[in-house]
Amino acid sequence: MKDDRCVRFLQWLLPQLHMRWQGFRKVRKQVCKRIQRRISELELTDVDAYRQYLLTHADEWRILDHSCRVTVSRFYRDKVVLEHVRTEVLPELAEAAIAAGDTTLRSWSAGCAMGEEAYSLILIWDKSVGIDYPQLDIEIVGSDIDELLLQKAIRACYTYGSIKALPGSWLKSAFTQQNNEYCLESRLRNKACFSRQDIRDRHTKGSFHIVFCRNMAFTYFDNALQIEILDYIHHTLVDGGALVIGGHESLPDGFSGFEQWSKQRAIFRKKLTVYNEA
Ligand SMILES: C[S@@+](CC[C@H](N)C(=O)[O-])C[C@H]1O[C@@H](n2cnc3c(N)ncnc32)[C@H](O)[C@@H]1O
Repeated sequence: MKDDRCVRFLQWLLPQLHMRWQGFRKVRKQVCKRIQRRISELELTDVDAYRQYLLTHADEWRILDHSCRVTVSRFYRDKVVLEHVRTEVLPELAEAAIAAGDTTLRSWSAGCAMGEEAYSLILIWDKSVGIDYPQLDIEIVGSDIDELLLQKAIRACYTYGSIKALPGSWLKSAFTQQNNEYCLESRLRNKACFSRQDIRDRHTKGSFHIVFCRNMAFTYFDNALQIEILDYIHHTLVDGGALVIGGHESLPDGFSGFEQWSKQRAIFRKKLTVYNEA
């Protein structure tokens, strides 16, 4: 399919899925390929015929929703941001958690793909921050809409390309090579649990100290849906808890429940909840 035809189709399609074209501009080629494959599977002549098909086949929208997912991830993605999480955010959250009598730092990776983000946090804790807080453990829930990715997350074996941004000593001590893959040791793997969730359904409940929602809602979802997701994440965080978004993302305007965490553009602190007396 020619690029301009696919772009026109995406610009028509995405708002109907509550997604936004800007998020897809750079990754459109892979999405267009999937759509073309689907058009061929259905033995339709072209994208216009597919558009007509969509008018009479409501189920097809679910398939399209799937086709529009981008699943790229890697360990230690946005290194500068994660270094800030390591040196400033986690120590502060740990102090607050201990002061509140917690024994576990609770975290959530929303849109966790194959677990790269969740296990990056576990490694940061195990190899660095957690050494100063032996009385505190860490656990992380990873959620994703894609069952196949979650199965891979549980298995926790990766290509070298996926883990190469990790500090060399962490890589050596935490992974064992099995053929062409690097598998995370089970002690660390067991600190994460994974569950299938469409974040738009807002099922995950919790009182997390830190939530990662990167390269998903704030890239691909439209503004109204972003605000809904942000409000939902706000409810899942403890007061003073941290929200980490992608290095190239920003939060939608019109939501006042967060403030920037020092100078970091991609890290936010949940403002204290103020209850009005009746
Ligand atoms: C680009 S990856 C980002 C992975 C990781 N957060 C990172 O930044 O490296 C986006 C992930 O979000 C998941 N995803 C997309 N739409 C979702 C939805 N509605 N609910 C939950 N997960 C979703 C995809 O399956 C994919 O694994």
